[in-house]
Amino acid sequence: MKILAFESSCDETAVAVVEDGRKVLTDQIFSQADLHAVYGGVVPEIASRCHVESISLLTDRALQAANISREDIDAVAVTYAPGLIGAVLVGVNFAKSVALALGVPLIPVHHIRGHIAANYLAYPELEPPFLCLAISGGNSLLVDVKGYTDMEIIGQTRDDAAGECFDKTARVLGLPYPGGKPIDALSQGGDDSKYSFPISHLDDNPYDMSFSGLKTAVINLVHNAEQKGEELDRASLAASFTKAVSDSLVPRAIAAAKEKGRDKLVVAGGVAANSRIRADFKAAAEANGLQLFVPPLRLCGDNGAMIGAQGYYEYLAGTRAGSDLNAYATMDLNVAYDTLTR
Ligand code: KG4
Repeated sequence: MKILAFESSCDETAVAVVEDGRKVLTDQIFSQADLHAVYGGVVPEIASRCHVESISLLTDRALQAANISREDIDAVAVTYAPGLIGAVLVGVNFAKSVALALGVPLIPVHHIRGHIAANYLAYPELEPPFLCLAISGGNSLLVDVKGYTDMEIIGQTRDDAAGECFDKTARVLGLPYPGGKPIDALSQGGDDSKYSFPISHLDDNPYDMSFSGLKTAVINLVHNAEQKGEELDRASLAASFTKAVSDSLVPRAIAAAKEKGRDKLVVAGGVAANSRIRADFKAAAEANGLQLFVPPLRLCGDNGAMIGAQGYYEYLAGTRAGSDLNAYATMDLNVAYDTLTR
């Protein structure tokens, strides 16, 4: 079964063709990051307009690259939530029109479910159940993935997402947007014990996370140093900051996997590209006898293939959207789409 999949929830326009949920025939991505970099973050209206301009061209390119015609498409999948609302609306409306024109089913896909499914593309043997940490620019979630479409959130950030914290830290250090990759590069060779940063512990749910205290601590350190005319060791600051994020994430994910009795641990989302976090997960999983799955770098960030992968399993579970499909800026990933429309 060939699914044409669309992703437009933030600043990547992405169109993919995925076969049977596991085989990527093409994965076309147009990143708008350069357009937003000058503003230090994503400008929603620019993102929406850019999606409008590029989505048709990318779709033509995807069909060509996959070497298929429109008649070969069996279903259309699209990110319907969460994200920048104007941006999500572009993908939803385009996908709706394509599904209507081709007379094929329309499958709504939750963006974070897509990030989790990126791992099915990289690891053919991976099947639920498993414990997943999803860490992206807008979300940080610990999810018990009981089945392909049956998920329970067991912890989440109370404030900023991990990726947001990387982006704000990069900004205060004068690094370009998005800041995760430049911080990763800067931290290489830095001393991770030079600066000490807070790691949150939330009494009522040990699996919930908080990154706003860490963000504020970094901003205060940089501003204080500027005011006193002191030079900071930027590489060590980036390394110490990354250690604090990793120490917030890795032990929580390991403890959650153990508590839920899962022997497989999956990491997903843009922040899963971080070299320190990947290394810490590898060491911790080995030490705790857990099988670790982390996507290759190209599947960590937003892409259309992950939406096609999850779309296949949503299709098998009977999830369908009608022509009244809407876009949502926020939506829990454990809410089944059909319960929204009842
Ligand atoms: O998953 P993603 O592409 O988009 C969302 O769905 O949000 O994640 C983007 C986030 C950004 O905050 C970016 O700075 C972060 O992922 N990121 C990284 C790295 N590469 C991207 N964070 C830390 N280290 C990296 N190497």
